[in-house]
Amino acid sequence: MAQHPPVLSLQGIGKEYAATVLDGVSLDLHAGQVLALTGENGAGKSTLSKIVCGLVAPTRGSMQLGGQPFAPRSRREAEAQGVRMVMQELGLVSTLTVAENLLLGRLPHRAGWLQRGRLRALAERQLARIGLTDVDPDMPVSRLGIGHQQMVEIARNLQDDTRVLILDEPTAMLTARESERLFAQIAQLSAAGVALVYVSHRLEELRRICDRVAVLRDGRLVDDRPMAGVSEADLVQRMIGRALDDDEDRPRRPAGPVKLRLRNLSRGTAVRDVSLDLHAGEVFGIAGLVGSGRTELLRLIYGADQAEQGSVELLENGQPQPPWSSPIEAVRRRIGLVSEDRKSEGLLLPQPIRVNTTLSDLQAVASGGWLQPAKETDIVRGLVRKLRVRCRDEEQPVAALSGGNQQKVVFARWLHRDCEVLLLDEPTRGVDVGARADLYAELERMAADGRALLMVSSDLRELMAMCDRIGVMSGGRLVQVFERGAWTEQSLLAAAFSGVSEQRSEETSA
Ligand SMILES: Nc1ncnc2c1ncn2[C@@H]1O[C@H](COP(=O)(O)OP(=O)(O)OP(=O)(O)O)[C@@H](O)[C@H]1O
Ligand SMILES: [Mg+2]
Repeated sequence: MAQHPPVLSLQGIGKEYAATVLDGVSLDLHAGQVLALTGENGAGKSTLSKIVCGLVAPTRGSMQLGGQPFAPRSRREAEAQGVRMVMQELGLVSTLTVAENLLLGRLPHRAGWLQRGRLRALAERQLARIGLTDVDPDMPVSRLGIGHQQMVEIARNLQDDTRVLILDEPTAMLTARESERLFAQIAQLSAAGVALVYVSHRLEELRRICDRVAVLRDGRLVDDRPMAGVSEADLVQRMIGRALDDDEDRPRRPAGPVKLRLRNLSRGTAVRDVSLDLHAGEVFGIAGLVGSGRTELLRLIYGADQAEQGSVELLENGQPQPPWSSPIEAVRRRIGLVSEDRKSEGLLLPQPIRVNTTLSDLQAVASGGWLQPAKETDIVRGLVRKLRVRCRDEEQPVAALSGGNQQKVVFARWLHRDCEVLLLDEPTRGVDVGARADLYAELERMAADGRALLMVSSDLRELMAMCDRIGVMSGGRLVQVFERGAWTEQSLLAAAFSGVSEQRSEETSA
């Protein structure tokens, strides 16, 4: 096939912060092609994307767009030339409405007056492109859930003048249905001649929608080839430089005494009448569709929200412990929550890794009420090494870490706390395949030490590989519990969809 000249060409792009983040990356993007950009957490994918879109200035190298020199100094400048990006960390302005965000920089006006009606109509048209018909354009974006915010960010970048579109982990917060709509749009854009770059840690997505794959390792481009014929195992090997074995045939772990007892737990329509015994030494998975009540259930257990009915009990050697009604008290009882939304609920972004890690248990790094800096540093270094957090040192602010490495810090915090019960909500979102294996190994060790783990995940393969039992939630209820060995992907999905029609009819009658 004769290659047309590239739409965008990168030559020897380099970027240095304190360390070298990108080292001489040369890459061509072609019209109508979807390029998978992969690599470990911290490999430089987002930084490279931001350079193309004018958000970060390269330290060296050059770019050409349509054969002309291209050096955007802002996102706006890049967008004016049709180069756009869907950001991994949402780029929306939270104080503005959905419509204002969608048309930012292009707000319709006449003689200086904003045309509200036209703004609304344009916004509605753009939302409809990705099937977001249930979102009110006049609503502030801050009131939307993160999945919907992500969809708005995507809609914002679906413009007719787009020549290059970079999508940085666009599906990390989307449901399967929303992802499908996005893939349909990607197919349309590439058919229309847009050059696309797709960044994701979900290998099956990459293999499905991309024509070509480029791999970054430590800021260097180590591979660039057609996707056809590349297997998932190949991809892993190229990204992390080693193979991973899967242990789907692992037997069920021996379960100890009951550690956490839920009885008839209810809150509104989000969680309805959930009862469950979680045993020491077991990993219990919770599957279900987005909105089925999984996150809300974890929040009730953690004390972040209060149950309207029912009870949560922690048992120590069969003895019920005093109840708790706030996260602070939960942490005192050694119950931890790795939350789904690390930005708003998890991390103190301007603070260093050290502070973010040890705040779960300052007692452990103090003596006689005084903080022991040397001891603290030692402990944090150990965790950083164990989880392979990619950072300059433990004093680096969390804000300067890549997305996947921020997630590892959340996890490090709860390892530090040495929890009896650990609640995990989508713990591996945005985490690369190698680091995911590291997290799984830690969970494995915690279970072997007799901890009880409750893990929500939308990744059924992850649940099937890790869990001893999987409970499926639908419409706020725990509709079915499967023992290891008794589930199939189909049976889990069937259970997840089982309560949907019932819920819909209640909503419409309400
Ligand atoms: N503002 C900054 N200051 C210092 N270092 C930074 C800054 N932004 C990014 N880095 C560093 O650059 C490296 C690459 O980060 P980048 O976000 O590009 O990785 P990534 O490949 O997108 O990773 P992930 O898969 O986790 O999203 C990381 O080691 C990160 O710590
Ligand atoms: Mg990134």
